[in-house]
Amino acid sequence: MKKIILILAVLFSFACMSFNIAYGADNIEIKLQINSNVMNIGSENKTLDSAPVIVNGRTLVPIRAVIESMGGSVQWDSNTRTAVLGYKNDTISLTVDSTAAYYNDEESFLDTAPMIIEGRTMLPIRFIAEKFGFLTQWNPDTQTITITKQAESEQEINPQTAEENSKDDVSDKKVLVAYFTWSGNTEEMAEYIAEQTNGDLYKIEPKTPYPNEYNKCGEVAKVERDDNVRPEIANLPDNIDEYDTIYIGYPIWWHTAPMIIGTFLESSDFSGADIYPFTQSASMDTEQFENSMKFIKDCAKNANVHDGLFTQPDDINKIDDYIQK
Ligand SMILES: Cc1cc2nc3c(=O)[nH]c(=O)nc-3n(C[C@H](O)[C@H](O)[C@H](O)COP(=O)(O)O)c2cc1C
Repeated sequence: MKKIILILAVLFSFACMSFNIAYGADNIEIKLQINSNVMNIGSENKTLDSAPVIVNGRTLVPIRAVIESMGGSVQWDSNTRTAVLGYKNDTISLTVDSTAAYYNDEESFLDTAPMIIEGRTMLPIRFIAEKFGFLTQWNPDTQTITITKQAESEQEINPQTAEENSKDDVSDKKVLVAYFTWSGNTEEMAEYIAEQTNGDLYKIEPKTPYPNEYNKCGEVAKVERDDNVRPEIANLPDNIDEYDTIYIGYPIWWHTAPMIIGTFLESSDFSGADIYPFTQSASMDTEQFENSMKFIKDCAKNANVHDGLFTQPDDINKIDDYIQK
């Protein structure tokens, strides 16, 4: 009889523990470090299947142990390669190699898709934690991400902190390298700048592609410039306002920037963002470059438009100097 009472008591205390974690009666603090398999939960350590990694400025983690420590659960559908995470009454659904993410019915787009690394499914922890109402903080010195939730009675999320924390994991500034190219020269610069700045690369695609033939493309572009047209963009991301620093690349077209650059700059509110134009052309005529700078400043009205870079795509020294300024 004594034995049965003891077993019941142990079971009851386990039930209380999981109730506390799941329903927030306790404060939760979880620490994860890049390239370390040790996860710290309060005063306890747990070993992860694989270490968190940074991909494209986002921390990806093996989710099962993490979500269970947060008081949630995970179900894996191997046919669709989708992880469905549950926390209280909410769910997040994430699919390997897809940037589309669902928080209940709400669709969002991730800048880094879940991926399989060395056989483990790695998911973006900040997105998950913040959707489930946890705070996340990144310490670049120790490469540590801390996930916290206060007990519900004490919980008081400071919206300012939540907003600041929703920025990039790796640095305070989130960098976008957006560019338009017709024959690939601007792309070469954009790829290099994105690599050096750890920025997200975004190629602006027109809804109606420009003709492949040079003169025909020239005719279309000239009409657009003369009529100050804003050609539609086929692939405009809806998270542009998350970026504080935007490099914008383009070739000189008809003595200024292509009009689609205007479409991009007028598509979002860039108030307060730092914009760094970079460009090149066949003639490398500085007056044409200056015209393009004026166009950029007119289109990005409330942004902080910095001096632009006008150089040959393979002039690495000049590009390096520019991005280090
Ligand atoms: C429609 C069009 C208009 C152009 N207008 C100019 C121009 O006014 N001045 C100039 O120096 N080069 C001009 N060019 C040449 C491009 O600036 C040059 O080829 C550039 O390297 C192309 O960059 P991309 O490969 O990124 O498209 C024009 C090219 C095209 C297709």
